[in-house]
Amino acid sequence: MEIIIRPTPEECASIGGRIIANLINGKPNAVLGLATGSTPIPLYSELIRLHKEEGLSFSEVTSFNLDEYIGLSGEHPCSYQFFMDEELFGKIDIKSNSAHIPNGEAQDIQSECLQYEQAIRSSGGIDLQVLGIGSDGHIGFNEPGSSLGSRTRIKTLTGETIEDNARFFDNPDQVPRHCITMGVGTIMDSETVLLFAFGEGKADIISKAVEGPVSAMVPASILQLHPNVKVIVDEAAGSKLANISYYKEVYENKPDWQA
Ligand code: PGA
Repeated sequence: MEIIIRPTPEECASIGGRIIANLINGKPNAVLGLATGSTPIPLYSELIRLHKEEGLSFSEVTSFNLDEYIGLSGEHPCSYQFFMDEELFGKIDIKSNSAHIPNGEAQDIQSECLQYEQAIRSSGGIDLQVLGIGSDGHIGFNEPGSSLGSRTRIKTLTGETIEDNARFFDNPDQVPRHCITMGVGTIMDSETVLLFAFGEGKADIISKAVEGPVSAMVPASILQLHPNVKVIVDEAAGSKLANISYYKEVYENKPDWQA
């Protein structure tokens, strides 16, 4: 794991934007795995800037979002489809039929999940997966206790996640209890993973995920077994890491060929 600690979310987003731009410049038909929540917003703003100011094109890119609430239509302002349209897809040149999000209104949720896995496989697999992390350690909506080998499926949200996400809804009772999420195993199949976390509220879980034991109780900790992960955090989210000074030293002294 490479741990990158920068002073602000914007600086973290700029690093992420550069990595994604390099990927797309080398492989215009790259496959991106995308996330929702507050965390990826600075990254999406940076991608929009790169598109508008530097001509980065997403016209051949395919994307797969991690998850969607069950029971919300794509027009619902709290659906992840709506979020992605507002925060990214509507502002870049990605083709709408290349930007995939699980259908939370599918009649047959199980076959929707199987088809989603199949679509990822048919695209050639995810080149780069963007992740946030839940305060309970979830990635996607893989809550504590999720099988570390799981694939796209239905999950029940934990009370902690419902509470965390209630801020987007008028009241906590409106937060759907179920979702479709890529599995931990689906995420682990990605070629590269960028995990972002910002703010003091994420400091405890980042230290557990990065430096604690690998455990289904902290699903993000499985990333310790992935060969190509960058954990990009601001100072606040990185503040409880035991090896903080070492991570900073590594980043500041990267040999040119590696940077
Ligand atoms: P957040 O959510 O970015 O809104 O903190 C992260 C997550 O739940 O994965």
